[in-house]
Amino acid sequence: MAEDLQITKGSKEDQYQSLVPQIKSLLQGETNSVANMANIAAALKEQFNFFWVGFYLVDDNELVLGPFQGPVACTRISYNRGVCGTAWAQKETLIVPNVDEFPGHIACSSLSKSEIVIPIFKTGKCIGVLDVDSSEYNTFDLIDKQYLNMILNLFTSQ
Ligand code: SME
Repeated sequence: MAEDLQITKGSKEDQYQSLVPQIKSLLQGETNSVANMANIAAALKEQFNFFWVGFYLVDDNELVLGPFQGPVACTRISYNRGVCGTAWAQKETLIVPNVDEFPGHIACSSLSKSEIVIPIFKTGKCIGVLDVDSSEYNTFDLIDKQYLNMILNLFTSQ
């Protein structure tokens, strides 16, 4: 396993294209899901310097904070609440260009301005979400959705 991440400059797509195989090799041979989520969060944070990157995991009827990188965050999110709880309920990726305009957004930090939340499926069941937050508006688009899903597929197929 490579221990250092090669940080790439260039377009967003260039950066993801360099990052995805590195994440693949980080996960290779490791079956512990906490270890793998921790390294995915760290790799995304290191490459893109996002404000906050982390996992919320389904636990009964709520999401509970999992491995993350960034400032401390709220630990529990109810079903259908905030961006994370809504992405879980709708089983859909949510791209929020301006969190102030999202009804019921949970502001863990006022510095977070835009976000993408992707539900994670294992054997057809939603087991949690990946939440990536930016301190700038309009950060995320379909390129992030495509590559973050690729990274999550590497994770769920481990
Ligand atoms: N953005 C989330 C809350 C979690 S934090 O931002 C880390 C939401 O509204 O669901």
